[in-house]
Amino acid sequence: MPRSRWKHAFSGLAIAAMLWGSWPSVRAQEAHSETFATPQVAAAAPERLALWPVSARARQSDPLLEARVAAIVSRMTLEQKIGQMTQADIRSITPEDVRRHYIGSILNGGGAWPNMQRRASPADWAALSGAFYTASMSTDMATQVPIIWGTDAVHGHNNVYGATLFPHNIGLGAARDPDLVQRIGRSTARAARATGITWVFAPTLAVVQDQRWGRSYESFSSDPALVRDYAAHYVRGLQGDLNAASDVVATAKHFLGDGGTFRGADQGDTRVPLSDLIATHAQGYYGALEANVQTVMASYNSWNETGAGERGVRMHANRYLLTDVLKGRLGFDGFVVSDWNAIEQAPGCRRTSCPDAINAGIDMVMVPEDWLAFIRDTVEDVRRGAIPMSRIDDAVSRIVRVKLRSGLFDANPAATAAAMPADAIADAELAREAVRESLVLLKDDRRVLPLRRGIRLLVVGKGADSLSLQSGGWSRTWQGTENTNEDFATGETLLTAIQRTIGPERVTYSETGAGINVRRFDAVIAVLAETPYAEMRGDIAFPATLSHSARYPEDLAALDAVSGQGVPVVTVLYSGRTLFANDLINRSDAFVAAWLPGTEAGGIADVLFRAPNGRAQHDFTGRLPFAWPRTPCDSVGHGARFQIGYGLSYARQRRVGRLPEALAPCAQ
Ligand code: BGC
Ligand code: BGC
Repeated sequence: MPRSRWKHAFSGLAIAAMLWGSWPSVRAQEAHSETFATPQVAAAAPERLALWPVSARARQSDPLLEARVAAIVSRMTLEQKIGQMTQADIRSITPEDVRRHYIGSILNGGGAWPNMQRRASPADWAALSGAFYTASMSTDMATQVPIIWGTDAVHGHNNVYGATLFPHNIGLGAARDPDLVQRIGRSTARAARATGITWVFAPTLAVVQDQRWGRSYESFSSDPALVRDYAAHYVRGLQGDLNAASDVVATAKHFLGDGGTFRGADQGDTRVPLSDLIATHAQGYYGALEANVQTVMASYNSWNETGAGERGVRMHANRYLLTDVLKGRLGFDGFVVSDWNAIEQAPGCRRTSCPDAINAGIDMVMVPEDWLAFIRDTVEDVRRGAIPMSRIDDAVSRIVRVKLRSGLFDANPAATAAAMPADAIADAELAREAVRESLVLLKDDRRVLPLRRGIRLLVVGKGADSLSLQSGGWSRTWQGTENTNEDFATGETLLTAIQRTIGPERVTYSETGAGINVRRFDAVIAVLAETPYAEMRGDIAFPATLSHSARYPEDLAALDAVSGQGVPVVTVLYSGRTLFANDLINRSDAFVAAWLPGTEAGGIADVLFRAPNGRAQHDFTGRLPFAWPRTPCDSVGHGARFQIGYGLSYARQRRVGRLPEALAPCAQ
């Protein structure tokens, strides 16, 4: 890279920094760029930065705060600084370790609970938080810097026993209700604070393009405008003004292009030009930044601008996007956290050492288990000149800034948690409202809905009585597996909700429907489901088809047992994505996409049944957040069967008729 090009790039940056008043040390960065340019990343030419729109809202820099940050950081040793940049999992670290090594952050990864007690109470969580906090404030640092605990509260406080789980983001996308999303953010923040946790790794702002991805349900929609709007509301809900005892720090994740990987592969390669990256994948970040989001999590995916070769630049090493664009052009002055052990995937990096990632702009490193070796190796990386001290100072300043802004220096989160009511982790009514709004009615050709209460009802399907299947991944455990109904302590399955609504004596449940005389009933409700999955395990890898029945033949069998016998069949499908389901739709008179509703399936019963006086009580209002596939291989919704935005209601009907069922193999 010729020096003159670098100069151009950085004069552009300097102007952006002046405009935004938020670039901590442009001169240090300039020096840094000449000596430590990350080789595989092109320098940010001014025109490549100018393509990114900047919002008109001026950022307020707070001189008093900045002076405090500078004073704290200036008195820290190198070991203390690297400690602050380190995030470990609670399964691998103790409060005493935190005290000795100046650890800046801990997380509980999916399925990590205090003392590995599945049923730890909010008080147990808060006690552990208090112990870590106290340890972080008992070091020999010149100024004690409090630890910050982050958690994946991605649909409510989902690791915690007894917490209400809201619909996953895909269902919220169907609801098209930004105010609802903000209230869910509020509620989730309160739940986290009730356990002494002040940082939430949400919202996910992926704009998913391919339903093969096993994290599709963490995405609100394929519509960038919707994701942008929701991002702002979700962050406002979580963060409030960052000063109340019920506010948390939010995380916009995963930056950038996680929803655009080739064939929807998890941690894959996003092959799009810069214009698409901006117009599609970056839109949520605009919303989050407008709402003052304080942290951003980098993404496992790579960005391959030209589409050539096996894979592009890993996001964790992408200096242009992390530093020049996000922190420079877009004026983000919070901190960037890496994803779980993600630095090791950058070329030339190890799990415990990755100068390229830190030089590219990663400020805090999630090294869940190997935090001690990471500190040792990174101290060494700085000593040998692989990471400039200016970069370390910038990273630590960002971390301290967020800790100051969020009031962590002022109170032990355990004390604030103790002042909250024991039921602060529950919010069943809000979740039930969200569930009602999230339902999308795909078909009701014979107008069998809403059902009357006085009927004899047969319920079939493996999803009917399972909190686990209705909640999906990131529920109590990482993958959402190994859970029974008892592991939730709160909530209602759809079966329970139906029994409560029309009276248990009217309801017969048979999971398979085998051997049942269907004609004895007035109607059937079939509750079908994908089984829970999360990242890494949830992909439908090409060339497998999106046919639900190919993966879950038992669901088709349950419908075969009850359909075609003159009794109306209403199917409710729990899924984390849109799927090819023509065979299931054909065997159903009415078909409802219910996504992953979480613990409060009562919201489904509210819509399916008439009020006691015979009137419909809640109509369907949900709209598809992603296109519904026309063919078994149509994971991107080309020529969709049902377009994004589609959704029937009692008032608005359209005949679907018989759909083709043939399963052609996916062309290579
Ligand atoms: C996921 C993140 C999550 C983190 C911590 C990662 O594997 O990609 O979304 O926040 O783990 O659990
Ligand atoms: C953790 C998750 C994490 C995953 C990544 C799991 O053991 O609990 O939070 O995202 O590992 O591999």
